[in-house]
Amino acid sequence: MSLVMAETTSIVDIRATVTKNSRYSQDTSIITLDCPAIAAAAKPGNFVNVKVSDATQPLLRRPFSIHNVRGNLIDIMVQAVGAGTSLLCNSPEGSSVMVLGPLGNCFDITSREFDTAILVSGGIGTAPMLFLEKTLAAKGKKVINLIGGRTKEYLLAKNLSNCRFATDDGSSGFRGNVVELLQNELPGFSTEGTLKLFACGPTPMLKSLAGFCRQHHLSGDLSLESVMGCGIGICYGCSVEVNAPDGTVRTILLCREGPVIDAELLAGL
Ligand SMILES: Cc1cc2nc3c(=O)[nH]c(=O)nc-3n(C[C@H](O)[C@H](O)[C@H](O)COP(=O)(O)OP(=O)(O)OC[C@H]3O[C@@H](n4cnc5c(N)ncnc54)[C@H](O)[C@@H]3O)c2cc1C
Ligand code: FES
Repeated sequence: MSLVMAETTSIVDIRATVTKNSRYSQDTSIITLDCPAIAAAAKPGNFVNVKVSDATQPLLRRPFSIHNVRGNLIDIMVQAVGAGTSLLCNSPEGSSVMVLGPLGNCFDITSREFDTAILVSGGIGTAPMLFLEKTLAAKGKKVINLIGGRTKEYLLAKNLSNCRFATDDGSSGFRGNVVELLQNELPGFSTEGTLKLFACGPTPMLKSLAGFCRQHHLSGDLSLESVMGCGIGICYGCSVEVNAPDGTVRTILLCREGPVIDAELLAGL
């Protein structure tokens, strides 16, 4: 059971120009930021903490997964759920924001112990999957995406390959949640060699996946969310309790010891 600390040596806080703002779905936009130092150091699973406005409100920065890296540019996928995300989704091209990153630890993709990566995501949890998929593919791993959403309008799958979908209302793919889809598909995946699960999405989905990993003896990296302040281990705003199956309870700072944790650390919940 591993808990990987974030690397802090390459973190920078820079003013980044919004070079592109493109609408992705009804409430989601891709914001492209010119930040070479962050792009150069970013790993899949890392996030950035963005001061969405130079005004005093919103005061705190907002965390976003790194969705893609292209040369000096990073993309973040932002879903408008409140004041900060709405401001960012409406930020004009040519404007700038302060960006702190890359933050947090990353998905563990270096292991030679798996051939096929199953990427499981729900809702805006799909945001880190493009960067992860590209990096895994470059390492010669096979990738399968299982993507869940309330309806087909909430599936955020553009540019991802080898996708299977689950929707609550059955409007696209499997009717049900993404963990039930995984349960259904697992027998077929067994022919794909050794599997590892990578997941991001709502906490109930991740807890359910942790139990699934334990039951099926699969290793899994789960990217969690919490409210965050500083993003660098100072404010203690992101502390979460994790429970290992042996009953051990630990409090971790998700911005430094996460957002990615070993599935075993949720399996006891
Ligand atoms: C490591 C990490 C990576 C993230 N990556 C992404 C991403 O790639 N794209 C994206 O759109 N969002 C992402 N989020 C969530 C995003 O940071 C929040 O949605 C955002 O901070 C909300 O800010 P706001 O000002 O718009 O909303 P607020 O006005 O602060 O809150 C509006 C509503 O959103 C809820 N909310 C606030 N923060 C969170 C949160 N962290 N998780 C769930 N609900 C929240 C509040 O409870 C409230 O109901 C990530 C969060 C973390 C911790
Ligand atoms: S967000 Fe401040 S300690 Fe984690």
